[in-house]
Amino acid sequence: MTAAPLPSTGAVTGLGETLAFFRDPSFSQRRFSELGDVFETKLLAQSIVFIRGERAIGDLLKQEDCLQGWWPDSVRQLLGSKSLANRSGADHKARRRVVGQLFSSAALSRYTPAIEALVNDLANELQQAEGPIPLAARMRRFAFSVIATTVLGLEAENRDALFADFEIWTRALFSIPLALPGTPFARALAARQRLLARLKTVLQTNNNRQQGGLDLLSGGLDEAGLPLDDDDLVEQLLLLLFAGYETTASSLSCLFRALLLNPEVEQWLMQDLNNHERPSRLDATVLEVMRMTPPVGGFFRQNTQSIELADVAIPQGRVIQVVLSSSSTTNQIDLETFRPQRHLDGSFQQTLLPFGGGERVCLGKALAELEIRLMAMGLLQRVQLHLEPDQDLNLQLIPSPTPRDGLLVRATAR
Ligand code: HEM
Repeated sequence: MTAAPLPSTGAVTGLGETLAFFRDPSFSQRRFSELGDVFETKLLAQSIVFIRGERAIGDLLKQEDCLQGWWPDSVRQLLGSKSLANRSGADHKARRRVVGQLFSSAALSRYTPAIEALVNDLANELQQAEGPIPLAARMRRFAFSVIATTVLGLEAENRDALFADFEIWTRALFSIPLALPGTPFARALAARQRLLARLKTVLQTNNNRQQGGLDLLSGGLDEAGLPLDDDDLVEQLLLLLFAGYETTASSLSCLFRALLLNPEVEQWLMQDLNNHERPSRLDATVLEVMRMTPPVGGFFRQNTQSIELADVAIPQGRVIQVVLSSSSTTNQIDLETFRPQRHLDGSFQQTLLPFGGGERVCLGKALAELEIRLMAMGLLQRVQLHLEPDQDLNLQLIPSPTPRDGLLVRATAR
């Protein structure tokens, strides 16, 4: 069968499409319903092929040899040319091998006590608070502290200094990459230099100490078998802060929001919280949260050769955005319901890919899952959370889903 031509929105300049993209949370879903699971449009003058669904994504991940990583210009510049996110082939594999050592099961066992201590700090703060606490902001602080403490081995004071520059850097990630004086992008480039300098000092000071996980990187080799130099390593560390912070914070905020809105699910979960059989009710609940509100809306690839996705022809050199929300035209009402049981009773057959897939699958998945499990178990066992009335619980979707009013809660001891 010959492949069908690539359906297109017909956008010429991409201006209208760009405005719609930022304004309409259903931007891609609307176009998928109209044009199918593979279509092309233009955003910020860049042609982009959007794909969704198991068939198209499965076809893409089977053709890794014809793909390379791709990021918008602003992200590419802010992450840096040495970052593994901006590399492909042997360069990329070698760095994944080195950085992956930070997330081995031995490394995770080493990090566990520090993560539990951070969870305990939050449980204490919640119990002692006189007024409502914005839980989403606390989850951001927690997710950042986990990487800064467990991986980088930083004390609170250095952590705060890093955090301030990191927030300036993050704000310009998806902006227009024009470094005119005073623009967010120029400020972010300056923050990037300070972050790299700080990370280099951390790397050099911690090299001989077993604080954090940085000793696990020593002896890491590049694609030619030569030791990775510090300039290379610090760009990998910057990537970890970027990749591991907003994403994990979003999953945690959305998890607690879902439990607060669905007390019967919380009760079902509590009955079995200490059961270690996998997949557990907690695994199913976290997966259900990620099904309904994927922390990462999608990821990009560029095809170096022409390929076919779900029988649609994609000419060489296209930027492809994989959209991760689950899709189905059947049984729609049930799929709009928050029902973690679907992942245990066999009634849900789609493969979800909240952590991506293939050669670039999330490198920090095991750490993220550990953080989420420890935070969920730690808080649920110690405190009963109550939603503060009159707040907007709708989700703001960009950069990652988070409750608009910050998820204001009060806590009582269990
Ligand atoms: C719930 C939390 C998280 C989610 C949902 C998530 C999701 C993702 C996704 C979708 C990708 C893109 C995969 C692809 O291109 O195929 C990715 C890449 C990545 N993630 Fe995560 N992530 C999470 C947490 C973390 C954490 C905690 C870290 C590390 C501290 C991390 C490090 C990375 C890195 C380094 C990459 C780039 C991999 C590569 O290009 O080879 N992530 N993540």
